[in-house]
Amino acid sequence: MKNHVAISGAIAAALLLPACSKREPPLEQRLLEEIAGAYPTNASPNGVVRSFEITAAETELPLLDGKPLRVWAYNGQVPGPELRVRLGETVRVEFTNRLPVPSTLHWHGVRVPNDMDGVPTQSRPAIKPGETFVYEFTPKDAGTFWFHPHIRSSEQVERGLFGVLVVEDPAPPAYSRDLVWVLDDWLLGTDGQIAPTFNTRHDLAHDGRWGNRITVNGRTNEVLALRPGERIRLRIVNVANGRVFTPDFGGLAAKVIAVDGLYVRQPFDASGFELAPGNRIDVDLTAGRASAVAPIEDRFRPSRPNHLADVRVEGEPVETPRFALPSRANVPAWKAGSETPVHAELALDARGGGPFGIEWTINGVAFQGHESATGHTGISLAQDRFNHLRFTNRSARLHPIHLHGMFFRVLTRNGRAVDEAFFRDTVLVHPRETVDVGVVPVDEGSWMLHCHILEHAEAGMMTMLEVGKTAGGKHDGMAH
Ligand code: C2O
Ligand code: CU
Repeated sequence: MKNHVAISGAIAAALLLPACSKREPPLEQRLLEEIAGAYPTNASPNGVVRSFEITAAETELPLLDGKPLRVWAYNGQVPGPELRVRLGETVRVEFTNRLPVPSTLHWHGVRVPNDMDGVPTQSRPAIKPGETFVYEFTPKDAGTFWFHPHIRSSEQVERGLFGVLVVEDPAPPAYSRDLVWVLDDWLLGTDGQIAPTFNTRHDLAHDGRWGNRITVNGRTNEVLALRPGERIRLRIVNVANGRVFTPDFGGLAAKVIAVDGLYVRQPFDASGFELAPGNRIDVDLTAGRASAVAPIEDRFRPSRPNHLADVRVEGEPVETPRFALPSRANVPAWKAGSETPVHAELALDARGGGPFGIEWTINGVAFQGHESATGHTGISLAQDRFNHLRFTNRSARLHPIHLHGMFFRVLTRNGRAVDEAFFRDTVLVHPRETVDVGVVPVDEGSWMLHCHILEHAEAGMMTMLEVGKTAGGKHDGMAH
């Protein structure tokens, strides 16, 4: 497929640098060669513009088990509308904010122009109540992405603001159906409504806000009915503020074909994948020939499994579509990646203080909005070069670290090689763990790096990655 073999022009140019100019050391040079062609530098718009209108507003919906729940919703739906486009098409979203507070749309995992990223900046502030803003971009990659506010996200996402953006392949594989499961949890009070306390000391001292109800597509009793023999693509997205899900597919034939949007090099068994907040997996699921009901459980805490949904196989059998599992050839192995010097180490930790009583820090700094007198110095990354980053978790809590505007690959955990033959945009860093990743940023801009436990981000665990020319404008991030 064209998008998989396109050679990144800039990387190719870097490989051809004459000996007299600043050359990469040979090892870095080899690592660059490995990633050449993994994904395109530029979008290839085909001229088709797909227009959507999204309005964020308060409403009441029959969610969970069907009782009315007061939420904030996109177009009166939770999850929000599923936006589906083909690779090459341009996405145009007219966003209207009817919430009582400013908001934005961030396109999680999508390589968009920097000023379409939905992160509030001085030059592109958040959308105020009553205002409309048009987001427009042409996705460069096919895959499963999602959108959510990037200001006071710990409250706005929790209240119901999230939706899925599917960018289909130019010629999608012949699945019987292509479906989405949005995994979430909700913390309800005794009145059955969303507990209106956000960023509590408890949430901050732990792994964020974990709810007391778990939903798939907004329901506690989701049933996926399949005909015997059906082969579906199931796109699973974790939109929870803090909860990690490890879906277990029991006896079903379920393979991960994509992680965080992009196809993996070699599909693998879906059970056991830790889906942290922000992560997505695309699963190839084939129903057996016999009628059956298979419960799908979350086993992140194996001693306390949570029921997610039931897959019910019933009805007239259908022909199983036969085709090779989709995959991506150009995922770099980067076996020697961890031998390169560490470009930047990011120490993840907490301390007392700040507006919430606890601050989460990266290298001792809690990210603050533009009100901060001290400002914020981001980390510069070399564009079209191999960068070796290290996340060192000095705390006893979980930190799913998310990078905007680029994909990375995990190299090691606690110094031991990890064979993850796929790209990510979010990696779960466990308590006291050190995770090394390799990244070759191709998209210029000022990109956020933050913990996707939204309470940790709100309390400071965010920073900026500067790629290319300095991408002016100070950032508010998710801060107040
Ligand atoms: Cu899904 Cu910076 O976020
Ligand atoms: Cu965190």
